[in-house]
This record gives sequence, structure tokens and C-alpha cells, in this order.
Amino acid sequence: MPAEGYILLRRVFPVPADAIDQAGQVSTEVRRLLRGLGVEPEVVRRAGIVCFEGEMNIALYTKGGRIVLVVRPDRVELLFSDRGPGIADIDLVKQPGYSTAPDWARELGFGAGMGIPNMEENSDALVIRSRVGEGTVIRATILRRSDAAD
Ligand SMILES: Nc1ncnc2c1ncn2[C@@H]1O[C@H](COP(=O)(O)OP(=O)(O)O)[C@@H](O)[C@H]1O
Ligand SMILES: [Mg+2]
Repeated sequence: MPAEGYILLRRVFPVPADAIDQAGQVSTEVRRLLRGLGVEPEVVRRAGIVCFEGEMNIALYTKGGRIVLVVRPDRVELLFSDRGPGIADIDLVKQPGYSTAPDWARELGFGAGMGIPNMEENSDALVIRSRVGEGTVIRATILRRSDAAD
């Protein structure tokens, strides 16, 4: 009998910088993979939101990075890492409405400053680690308990 931490699936997705036209592709693929594994629809929905917001942020604000999807019997993990510029004030970026999105991104409907708040709301745990000048790593955990409340 495998332990709870057993890995059912692990996938790595590169996310290039400035590829706004491609943004959303990773979250679409993540949802498809999770559905294919029979992951609970509510967990697929939450993972899709978390992935989309993290993917958009890597594309919009960083020099590029990657997303790692890990599926375990009891949880889905999404790990976002990028090559900088890093986040100086993590409490500030967690605040609803805080955004440094440029005007061109706002014109496309981005920059509401709700991405990271939505990632927190749709995860059971969200850990952000960042080093200015180096990059940011975000680990989102979504539990697969059927009683996992939002
Ligand atoms: N990976 C990242 N690296 C550096 N800064 C980031 C990253 N992700 C988010 N940010 C910063 O945090 C702010 C808030 O992000 P978010 O809550 O997704 O809102 P929005 O994308 O609408 O601005 C962004 O405007 C940006 O300044
Ligand atoms: Mg965002």
C-alpha cells in the first residue's frame, strides 16, 4: 500500500516571459490532466484557478519560469518558480487590489490585483518565497479530501 505522499503524476511546464497570448495554456492542460486522472471536479476547478493566476503572473511580471504539477492520492501541488525580478514585499502583493500591471495589460483585462488573493483562497496552503534579484517560488497545495472547504 503506497504512502499518502505517493506521486501519481508529475509534469513540468515552462512558462516564457511576455507570452501573454499563450498564457492560459498550462492551466488548460493541468485541468485536462487532472480530469483524466479522475481528480474530484472541485479540486480540478480550484487547481485550474490557482494555476491560471500563477501562470499569468510568471508571463506578465517575470523573466520566465516554470510550473510543476504534482498529483498525489491526497493532494494536488502546483509549484511556480521564476527567474526574477523577485517580490520585495510579500504581504503587499497578497493584498486584494494591489497591482503593478502596466496599462497595456490592464487594457486586456488584467491587473485587478486579485491573482494572488485568488491563489490563496483556492489553495489549502500557499507558501511564497522570494529573493529580490533572483526570483520567486510559490507552492500551492490543494487537498483532495471530499470535505475540503474553500
Ligand atoms: N512572480 C512574480 N514576480 C514578481 N512580482 C510578482 C509576481 N507575481 C505577482 N507579482 C506582483 O504582485 C502584484 C499582484 O499580483 P496579482 O495579485 O496576481 O495581481 P495582478 O496580476 O492583477 O497585478 C503584481 O501586480 C506584481 O507586481
Ligand atoms: Mg496576477
